[in-house]
Amino acid sequence: MLVAVLLLLFYGVNDANCSAVHGNTTDRHSLLDFKEGITEDPTGALYSWSDNIHYYMWLGVNCSTRHPGPITVLDLYNLSLAGQITPSLGNLTFLRSLDLGSNRFTGQLP
Ligand SMILES: *[C@@H]1O[C@H](CO)[C@@H](O)[C@H](O)[C@H]1NC(C)=O
Ligand SMILES: *[C@@H]1O[C@H](CO)[C@@H](O)[C@H](O)[C@H]1NC(C)=O
Ligand SMILES: *[C@@H]1O[C@H](CO)[C@@H](O)[C@H](O)[C@H]1NC(C)=O
Ligand SMILES: *[C@@H]1O[C@H](CO)[C@@H](O)[C@H](O)[C@H]1NC(C)=O
Ligand SMILES: *[C@@H]1O[C@H](CO)[C@@H](O)[C@H](O)[C@H]1NC(C)=O
Repeated sequence: MLVAVLLLLFYGVNDANCSAVHGNTTDRHSLLDFKEGITEDPTGALYSWSDNIHYYMWLGVNCSTRHPGPITVLDLYNLSLAGQITPSLGNLTFLRSLDLGSNRFTGQLP
């Protein structure tokens, strides 16, 4: 719980125009599916990626301001993550910036 609050303090400043606010759950499902493919998260970086937290507050996730809704930025640089990149990432159709560098992902980008 404390971690969640801290994450909220640090990352809750992201703009509030993500899909969750407007009831679009497509991007949310895509991200949760992507999280399923991650087998190692030693720093608990994806702790905030939970159903209990609106995804505009999830670590590394940013959304469009011009078109309220879809996720536009996914930045998971250097979080010691390992796992399989799932095809669901390809369902984030408005994604324009993706940084999975300095992790140990396997598989191909969709
Ligand atoms: C969210 O979207 C609304 C309507 O498109 C806009 O007026 C508002 O400034 C946006 N808020 C932020 C924080 O970008
Ligand atoms: C998300 O948006 C905020 C505010 O626009 C910005 O400060 C932050 O660097 C962005 N985060 C990412 C991962 O792009
Ligand atoms: C939800 O977002 C996705 C892309 O991120 C988009 O293709 C879809 O049309 C949106 N659905 C609704 C109901 O807005
Ligand atoms: C990656 O993270 C580790 C530990 O958090 C840090 O020591 C290292 O300097 C970072 N590397 C880069 C390239 O940011
Ligand atoms: C991606 O979107 C397609 C079409 O909406 C859907 O059939 C498929 O199940 C989605 N894939 C994942 C991994 O979420």
